[in-house]
Amino acid sequence: MSKELNPLFGKRVELDASLTVAVIGAAGKMGMRVSNNLNLTDATVFYTEASEAGQARLQELGRVASTVDDAVPAADVVILAVPDVVLGTVSEQVVPLMQSGAVLLTLDPAAAYAGLLASRDDVHQACAHPAHPSIFLERTTVEEYADTFGGIAAEQEVVAAFEGDDEAAKARVEAVVRAIYAPVIDVHWVTVKQLAQLEPTLVETTACMIGQFLKDSMDHAITEVGIPEGAVKALFYGHIGIALTNALRGSNPFSEACLEAMDYGRDAIIKDDWKRIWDDEDLDVVLAKMLKLEKIERS
Ligand SMILES: NC(=O)c1ccc[n+]([C@@H]2O[C@H](COP(=O)([O-])OP(=O)(O)OC[C@H]3O[C@@H](n4cnc5c(N)ncnc54)[C@H](O)[C@@H]3O)[C@@H](O)[C@H]2O)c1
Repeated sequence: MSKELNPLFGKRVELDASLTVAVIGAAGKMGMRVSNNLNLTDATVFYTEASEAGQARLQELGRVASTVDDAVPAADVVILAVPDVVLGTVSEQVVPLMQSGAVLLTLDPAAAYAGLLASRDDVHQACAHPAHPSIFLERTTVEEYADTFGGIAAEQEVVAAFEGDDEAAKARVEAVVRAIYAPVIDVHWVTVKQLAQLEPTLVETTACMIGQFLKDSMDHAITEVGIPEGAVKALFYGHIGIALTNALRGSNPFSEACLEAMDYGRDAIIKDDWKRIWDDEDLDVVLAKMLKLEKIERS
């Protein structure tokens, strides 16, 4: 029997009762999210957290904080939900304690692709990043609309990487990934490098940057140009929607005049050599910034 049904998406979060999962950094943003969902499964879950404030948060939720020494050797899957800048040192503490055949699961590929994670021949490494609910997801309930991040009520997909060819271990990871990010539509398997190209190159470097640029442009229209805020937001929010659905899905053709203005904007704003963000050297530059390293050293 499942411990509880998720009241928001009304289904069990499936995970075999024989599985044991350890969450390292269980009181952080992702640690809390994945723990909330693991807590809806039949699996045994260990929570570890370094900060005292975090341990107090776990206690408020009735979650018993374990030490790494107790949690890690018991786990089939160890989830590292700690900041990327400490993943290297935390993995050095955790990996030697892991069971043979267990899986070290990270939630972002930067440290794995940069070669910062401690490894062991008999320990598998995997990384799974939530895609977040698509802007094109057909939501029907208030809860689905409210769940912008995913993992609560709105369905999302996941992109993941698994090192090695142990299909049983990979299946175990997929089950855990489907549970921690539930409700999940599908898990797409790629290489660690491809996952690092998606996160950050396509997502943070491109999409998040453009999202923030839209905000900067909107603020400029309101504060510098002096157009009433209500009018700016009304016109902009609707047009962002139509721009995305036209460009990404071809829902409607852009008009001739719109295409002219788009060309003007592209010439004015985008650099000719923008595709260099996809070069391996550029990816290493961004990853070094994200991981607070001088540079990425590859052996
Ligand atoms: N925040 C997001 O939106 C998001 C989305 C997808 C993936 N991720 C990835 O999830 C991971 C965690 O990010 P976050 O934003 O949740 O971080 P966070 O800073 O919110 O939380 C990290 C937690 O780890 C704890 N911690 C630090 N060192 C520890 C240690 N040695 N042992 C046990 N606990 C320790 C901290 O006290 C904190 O509670 C990162 O790899 C990040 O890239 C984050």
